[in-house]
Amino acid sequence: MTSPEFATVRVELGARSYDVLVGRGLIAGAAGHLAPFLHRPRVAVVTDENVAAAHLHALTAGLEAAGIVVVSLALPAGEATKGWPQFTRCVEWLLEQKVERRDIVVALGGGVIGDLVGFAAAVLRRGVRFVQVPTSLLAQVDSSVGGKTGINAPQGKNLIGAFHQPALVLADIGALDTLPGREFLSGYGEVVKYGLLGDADYFAWLEENGPALAAGDVGLRSEAVRRAVQMKADIVARDETEQGERALLNLGHTFCHALEAATGYSDRLLHGEGVAIGCALAFELSARLGLCAQEEPGRVRAHLAAMGMKRDISEIPGDLPGPEGLLELMAQDKKVVDGTLRFILARGIGAAFVTGDVPRDAVLAVLSDAMAGR
Ligand code: GLY
Repeated sequence: MTSPEFATVRVELGARSYDVLVGRGLIAGAAGHLAPFLHRPRVAVVTDENVAAAHLHALTAGLEAAGIVVVSLALPAGEATKGWPQFTRCVEWLLEQKVERRDIVVALGGGVIGDLVGFAAAVLRRGVRFVQVPTSLLAQVDSSVGGKTGINAPQGKNLIGAFHQPALVLADIGALDTLPGREFLSGYGEVVKYGLLGDADYFAWLEENGPALAAGDVGLRSEAVRRAVQMKADIVARDETEQGERALLNLGHTFCHALEAATGYSDRLLHGEGVAIGCALAFELSARLGLCAQEEPGRVRAHLAAMGMKRDISEIPGDLPGPEGLLELMAQDKKVVDGTLRFILARGIGAAFVTGDVPRDAVLAVLSDAMAGR
């Protein structure tokens, strides 16, 4: 920690570098962190109705106490917001508020709000700066950092968007207190992903501390978020636009996207739950292909079980397409290159890599066994 209240992680991107602050009290104390970015004492905040009820007052009160005028818009909560209608509403509202090129737009919320508002900021007047104030664990460790912004298309998730880096990220650990338990654990699916893809020590630390941080330990939560953000910052600094290494952040996502599509993006399966199951499947596939030790998938699943999380396809409620149907859905993935599906596999915990060389039969066998609970 750089101070008793928050840690700072720097995302090094030359002229577009920025800080991610991780700690408690950052929403109520946002004024001090935002002030250096303001050319005039005015900000436009976009949030959703649920987050507005929990956090907008604290943010607004702190800013107004510092003499900053706040205008705000609350969009409906939920994934359905992340499409053209609410995007258009957001952009037109920002124009009505006369947000100028040198102003700051604040995205207060989870991944849906961060992605949508970031994209709105990317296109408004050909680009205004924006600040991410992520309020979900998933947004704090993943979507608020790295500049991927966008909305969903009828053809698929996140198919319309832009790289637009925030000017600052304020990850207030206190906001996690108001998350429903299931949503917190879903975000934890993205946390565990970082250990699995690139840091075995972090995974071991999560095995030891995961249950206590899920139970509410603030120091452990801060440390977990800080370490995940540091890993993401390092990867983004090396590969901002995903020409190579950044694809590792998609560990578990090829399986996850198919499962999300198969469950209609409903609350049968939250995104991070799908990521966790997808990570377990990626390790199972890696072990069967002889890439990693046979014990590794069991270790991944044991940690997910210790956290009270789903770890297999058979735990998803309701009907699903068969293995062939899921494989078909996987073929819609953005990681398809020249018609070849690319997987993130692993040589061990903390040692993921990208490959296009995966026999179709091996994937089908893993899916079929997972659906049967074997
Ligand atoms: N969520 C994956 C990435 O930011 O690249």
